[in-house]
Amino acid sequence: MRFCLNVDHVATLRNARGEEQPDPITFALMAEQFGVDGIVVHLREDRRHINDRDVRLLRELITTKLDLEMAATEEIIQIACDVVPELATLVPEKRQELTTEGGLNVIDNIEHLRTSISRLHDADIAVSLFIEPDINQIDAASEIGADLIEIHTGNYANALGEDNIFEELDKIRIAAKHAKKLGLGVNAGHGLNYLNIKDFNVIKEIDEVSIGQAVIARAIFVGLEKAIKDMIGLINSASV
Ligand code: PXP
Repeated sequence: MRFCLNVDHVATLRNARGEEQPDPITFALMAEQFGVDGIVVHLREDRRHINDRDVRLLRELITTKLDLEMAATEEIIQIACDVVPELATLVPEKRQELTTEGGLNVIDNIEHLRTSISRLHDADIAVSLFIEPDINQIDAASEIGADLIEIHTGNYANALGEDNIFEELDKIRIAAKHAKKLGLGVNAGHGLNYLNIKDFNVIKEIDEVSIGQAVIARAIFVGLEKAIKDMIGLINSASV
């Protein structure tokens, strides 16, 4: 299972003072040295953390892969087509939310997403759709030409009580298997951390996890190298 690091919150901290440090680009380059498989950033409409310059610099400088999380809006699609990340992950975006709150409703937005995917494909960008572990949403993602899905793991991460946790995890397992059968790549993310990653590194259909908060938070205490290497160790400890 690959591990891609979301560095949005390094930019959140930088922007808190409107100055230059900590620099998310340097952070991303160091993270690559410590073994991550890719860098994820979300260029939000309100630019609350990552900005256009960050995306362009990352595109020039990183040597793993760039996963650009984005809403399927005209402005951001144009930027993506210009920057050409290896992967565009389409997410729903609301101005008031603190973080992405759930998966895309592919079924209700099917024509818009079909056109968005096709425009990104024309620019040679692979496209992932961030969706709930829901068979109908996965079928719709496949039908409109997504290359992969990212399963939203937030409901699992927030679930309380063994039964609820098991139920959410089961949905993810079933969804991952279903997506793989359809030939889709399978990523997973949101709310994954050093404790719950053990439930994911045994799901062989999951190709990649996208993690931000837990690793950035740990890096503040123990340093980036240890935070990354600890996560890689956990991911590899049960990989099949
Ligand atoms: N995947 C997607 C689509 C996200 O929006 C986020 C949050 O930015 C993540 C993964 C990472 O979530 P977390 O910061 O909780 O690890």
